[in-house]
Amino acid sequence: MTGAAAREVRFGFGDNWQRFLRGLTPERIERAEASFRQMLGRDRLDGERMLDIGSGSGLSSLVGWRLGAAVHSFDFDPLSVACTAELQRRFAAGDPRWRVEQGSALDPAYLARLGAFDLVYSWGVLHHTGAMWRAVELATQRVAPGGTFWIALYNDQGWISRYWHAVKRCYNTGIAGRAAMTALHAPYLLGVRAAVRAAQGRLELERGMDLWHDMRDWLGGMPFEVARPAEVTARVEAWGFRKERELLCGTRHGCNEFVFRRA
Ligand SMILES: C[S@@+](CC[C@H](N)C(=O)[O-])C[C@H]1O[C@@H](n2cnc3c(N)ncnc32)[C@H](O)[C@@H]1O
Repeated sequence: MTGAAAREVRFGFGDNWQRFLRGLTPERIERAEASFRQMLGRDRLDGERMLDIGSGSGLSSLVGWRLGAAVHSFDFDPLSVACTAELQRRFAAGDPRWRVEQGSALDPAYLARLGAFDLVYSWGVLHHTGAMWRAVELATQRVAPGGTFWIALYNDQGWISRYWHAVKRCYNTGIAGRAAMTALHAPYLLGVRAAVRAAQGRLELERGMDLWHDMRDWLGGMPFEVARPAEVTARVEAWGFRKERELLCGTRHGCNEFVFRRA
């Protein structure tokens, strides 16, 4: 990683994932699998190759593997790699159908060596690289003809996104910044969110996440870039894809999700 991307403050994602894995239950894995199948629009991935860029905890890679894909997972953060490798050991020890490595979404030589995949999946990652559009472009190049490209990128909320950027900078200054930003935002990110979700009967988060680790990831996640849905669609379609599905978060903070197919 070079230039501005290398100089950006970086959040320790892997540390958060290690804590998250301690509470990973079979129910959470089932929930992650259900939301994966729903967004993908398919129940199985037998015989397909899946690339998980920025695998984090490894939960999505695990889901892809359970659905029958041959999975290649990589992440930039060694602790995230260790988390994914831990899930690989727990559920697929010795199975060559799931490989885990350290690598960067911004390293063209590394990516080129991986070859082409039927499904390139990168959920909540490319906006944390420090060079989002370059990372999106490089990821599209790994999709085989007719293959699927599935990404989730932070929603651009204008000045609100700039506010969150300042919050993240403060969170990453040290213990005091972390404590202050958590105390300031937990009433909304934990309290209000939990109350609203409970009232709607969906207290458990989609994708097997939980509110506490989701909050830490959100408050700390740096580098941080955002994108408007129309821009994502325009750019990716210009690289030879057609959008099949999208799940937008509207005016709220969080990720917009897109599933494209390579022409
Ligand atoms: C918010 S987490 C998302 C993890 C996982 N995809 C998920 O959906 O739970 C972002 C991940 O992107 C990884 N990441 C950040 N920059 C990266 C890069 N240049 N190459 C690969 N992974 C990167 C982080 O280490 C972290 O594990």
